[in-house]
Amino acid sequence: MTTSTALHALTPLVADLAQDLPERERFRRLLAALRAVLPADAAALLRLEGEWLRPVAIDGLVPDALGRRFRIAEHPRFAQLLAAGQAMRFAPDSPLPDPYDGPLEVHDCMGCVLQTGGLPWGLLTLDALDPGRFADPAALAALQAFSNLAAATVTTAERLRRLARSARALPAPGAAPGGESSRPLIGQSPAMRALQKDIALVAASDLNVLITGETGTGKELVAQAVHAQSARAGRALVSINCAALPDNLVESELFGHVRGAFTGALSERSGKFEQADQGTLFLDEVGELSLPVQAKLLRVLQSGQLQRLGSDREHHVDVRVIAATNRDLAAEVAAGRMRADFFHRLSVYPLRVPALRERDSDVLMLAGFFLEENRSRLGLGGLRLHPAAQSALLAQDWPGNVRELEHLISRGVLRALSRAPSGTPAGGRARMVTLGQADLQDDAQPPATATPTLPVPQAASPGASPQGLREAVESYERHLIDASLQRHHGSWAAAARELQMDRANLQRLARRLGLA
Ligand SMILES: Nc1ncnc2c1ncn2[C@@H]1O[C@H](COP(=O)(O)OP(=O)(O)OP(=O)(O)O)[C@@H](O)[C@H]1O
Ligand SMILES: [Mg+2]
Repeated sequence: MTTSTALHALTPLVADLAQDLPERERFRRLLAALRAVLPADAAALLRLEGEWLRPVAIDGLVPDALGRRFRIAEHPRFAQLLAAGQAMRFAPDSPLPDPYDGPLEVHDCMGCVLQTGGLPWGLLTLDALDPGRFADPAALAALQAFSNLAAATVTTAERLRRLARSARALPAPGAAPGGESSRPLIGQSPAMRALQKDIALVAASDLNVLITGETGTGKELVAQAVHAQSARAGRALVSINCAALPDNLVESELFGHVRGAFTGALSERSGKFEQADQGTLFLDEVGELSLPVQAKLLRVLQSGQLQRLGSDREHHVDVRVIAATNRDLAAEVAAGRMRADFFHRLSVYPLRVPALRERDSDVLMLAGFFLEENRSRLGLGGLRLHPAAQSALLAQDWPGNVRELEHLISRGVLRALSRAPSGTPAGGRARMVTLGQADLQDDAQPPATATPTLPVPQAASPGASPQGLREAVESYERHLIDASLQRHHGSWAAAARELQMDRANLQRLARRLGLA
């Protein structure tokens, strides 16, 4: 490369330092400049987040790489790069597994740590499909030189980030207890970006939030994100699944009880509201609450006042409420199953989580994220999606949304593993598995129209011990629901489809039968 082409590629980067660019764009330009200076088939910028490295920009890798997170301890190349503190090359015969081998067959690669303020910020990596592309030592020297400019770019991005955060008075990431263990909200489609923006907006306020969306779209993750980005992030996020408990227990869970308030109330206990004081209470499946419980909740929402069951003492709480449902609550109000005043209190700021089929190629990013989780859990060297499998994923319409995709990938990985030869391949490299289209074909789920063939349970078979008709029917119902839930890995929506029932009715029946 001539000096003038190098200058041509690098000058805009220097100019960018003085510009207020969105972070994504700034990083995209950085990688484009890197590839102009050092021809490679792929480049990535990864940010260090505790014990993880997360790609924040990629150029030339398939989109699922952006959804991945890499635990440093499981990727010796990344660990070495971070420890080296300078540019390093991994020659084609390096026995260390390549983190990108999943999405790409990589044969030559280099990387360099980026430092800001004397601390490692992350990594720049470059990959080539042909061996020997980076054999010339000048390539390594160029990467080292480039990384100094890249460090200036990320320092600028960090400074802007900090400014934006303090302008919104947001706590630093990780301030939320347990926040680190929850998943990031993966997705860059316009629909998800709009949602992320809305989350940031509402998080900064103290308004109650109603999260709606189909089953499996990620409502719970959205609730966690709102809390984590709010001023209450350092306080508790307490969750309750309103569908999982019968009415009298929901009340005691929410408001607490005194000793002897009901049979079994052996000691006094605080409820979720009091536990969430100063923090956030997440009311999941809020559409399942009965009218009397809604009335009691309304009072707390209005005044912050509550009484434990069986007590007349008032407690005052300061709680932000986030609720979620996959029902159309306005329709529930119209049908008389939900109080209008309760609904309006809850839905001060509605957030709609888009269905997976509205999220374009986010499907592949999410698939990449789930593949990496499976790879890590199973200790594999790499897991990749065959291009035909990628196309198949993009073509589906995902009635069960992200949860369905997550389960499909986990099952696909097991199928692919059962086909692949076991043992560690020669050269000490860890095992590499490719998911084909057939691995993702779900014959585990019967077609929606087919009637499932179910064995007749013991209790209903002739000759079983005598019992009333009602008891026998209930026992059979219990068996059917349980079997269907198992077939669908606990998805109520899928079980309801198979049993041709409304999901809420199914859950209510299951509760009555003591199943949920
Ligand atoms: N954007 C996302 N990024 C990463 N994982 C996601 C995303 N959205 C959903 N998931 C994962 O998909 C699964 C389903 O998400 P979640 O339980 O939040 O859905 P839900 O909308 O609450 O569903 P339901 O209405 O059935 O309760 C979870 O394992 C969650 O971690
Ligand atoms: Mg949920």
